[in-house]
Amino acid sequence: MTVLSVEGLSKTFDVHVLDDTQVVGLDGVSFNVREGEFLAVVGESGSGKSSLLKCLYRTYDPTDGRVVYHGDDEVDLATCDDRTVMALRGTAIGYTSQFLNEIPRVPAVDVVARPLVEQGTPAETARGRARELLQALSVPAELWDAYPATFSGGERQRVNLAQALAPDPDLLLLDEPTSALDPETRREAIDLLETALGQGTTVIGVFHDTDVVAAVADRVVVLDEGRIQAVLPIEEFDGEVVR
Ligand SMILES: Nc1ncnc2c1ncn2[C@@H]1O[C@H](COP(=O)(O)OP(=O)(O)OP(=O)(O)O)[C@@H](O)[C@H]1O
Ligand SMILES: [Mg+2]
Repeated sequence: MTVLSVEGLSKTFDVHVLDDTQVVGLDGVSFNVREGEFLAVVGESGSGKSSLLKCLYRTYDPTDGRVVYHGDDEVDLATCDDRTVMALRGTAIGYTSQFLNEIPRVPAVDVVARPLVEQGTPAETARGRARELLQALSVPAELWDAYPATFSGGERQRVNLAQALAPDPDLLLLDEPTSALDPETRREAIDLLETALGQGTTVIGVFHDTDVVAAVADRVVVLDEGRIQAVLPIEEFDGEVVR
């Protein structure tokens, strides 16, 4: 069953500082994602990987095209109103950004628990789930009540990933979620993702590490200058195009 149909998705940026020059982020990108599939997105730096995920999560408003999400109802994520976007975020669609946002003065456990609390889970239950995820990702217990603003890049990345996983979204959009992790914590992050996959979660993940792609992906989308160069089953992917 198809979860997401991306059709002719384009994103052009008007860069005012460059005399309103237009920069192409994405140009006519089309692909389908099946339920429970792990789709890896690869390509050189600047090829449009982050722009693609941001258009799917509607951090960016696409310039053209459709992103049909087949959830309880069929929704075009490229054009639906902001209220529909907000309602889908968290439970239906989760996202972690490539660059870690400055997190306000909130303890790590509450950063992770927040999406659950927002959707009505009692605070203590949500914190319990948050601690489980932080534990599974080997974030030291003494940091759980500390502010992530002071954490290392890899610790923050794990808090981010735990936050996206906490509400068990149906579709997870991950932008280089393991780039700052050492091999051991990366393995733990991948184990968690595989557990989520076992429960039917669909993942679209941007990765530049060929080993991670080979370990987790079912299919690979290769982007080049905002366009799709290839969509390959993992067996046919040789890692050449990964920067
Ligand atoms: N908000 C923006 N304003 C202007 N240009 C942008 C914006 N976001 C992305 N771009 C441009 O769109 C192109 C694609 O950028 P994007 O961040 O999607 O690449 P990427 O494949 O994720 O690269 P990397 O591997 O370095 O993260 C680049 O040329 C970039 O400069
Ligand atoms: Mg990027």
